Amino acid sequence: MSIVDPLPGLRGEARANHVAAMFARVSGKYDLLNTVMTGGMHHRWRRQAALLGTRDLAGVALDVATGTGDLAIALARRPGICQVVGLDFVPEMLHLARRKVLRRSPSKAIGFLQGDAMALPFPDDAFTCATCCFGLRNMEDVPKALAEMARVVERGGRVVIIEIVPAESKGLLLWLLDVYFRRVVPVLGRVLAGEREAYTYLPRSVDAFPLAGELVHLMEKAGLRNVTYRNAGMGMVAIHVGEKA
Ligand SMILES: C[S@@+](CC[C@H](N)C(=O)[O-])C[C@H]1O[C@@H](n2cnc3c(N)ncnc32)[C@H](O)[C@@H]1O
Repeated sequence: MSIVDPLPGLRGEARANHVAAMFARVSGKYDLLNTVMTGGMHHRWRRQAALLGTRDLAGVALDVATGTGDLAIALARRPGICQVVGLDFVPEMLHLARRKVLRRSPSKAIGFLQGDAMALPFPDDAFTCATCCFGLRNMEDVPKALAEMARVVERGGRVVIIEIVPAESKGLLLWLLDVYFRRVVPVLGRVLAGEREAYTYLPRSVDAFPLAGELVHLMEKAGLRNVTYRNAGMGMVAIHVGEKA
């Protein structure tokens, strides 16, 4: 596993506050940057994750680190899901998520709650699935965050993680994508969101994140079984799914 530290010198509460402040600053332009950076592909990845997380299941879904709520809305569109809770620790993100839900008026209830993924404010076995899209990479204690998601999911329920993962092979296309990610994305962040730090931190946080295969083991250690993953975004993104044993 990589030893790169994306936020050197920052630990515990100071680190969490720093990450929260960064996401609060970019919240207004977050959706635009996602669309520009991924060429709009991120919506497809979320739909895929919502399908994988809920297929043949019924009940309430949780989206951890929900940001502006796109995955929460995708979950609400799934047939077996009667209600969705989206949790994030940044009020500015939650405000945008609530506004988005009002605009799109989905037929099912979606509630947003401020909270910390490291200590989810829910009892054990409360949800049929728990998802996290582009959130886990920002958390200091990944095993703890996975354990919390596994705890609040009922037996037979699923945990789904969408994350940008370190590239494992080196073709020309991946090399070009890597250059885009490291050189162009920070410039886009500065120009479109007026924020250089968050989009310089982004590639560094990917370097510090486990490889897709390592994440499988971490999910298993968190109490999940049948953990599988599929790649998306030409190998830069992985969608992991595990079932609560
Ligand atoms: C890159 S955004 C992803 C947002 C959304 N899931 C999406 O699909 O676009 C990361 C989100 O994780 C949230 N976050 C990071 N650490 C968190 C924590 N410990 N507890 C709750 N939310 C957290 C941030 O506030 C931010 O909204």
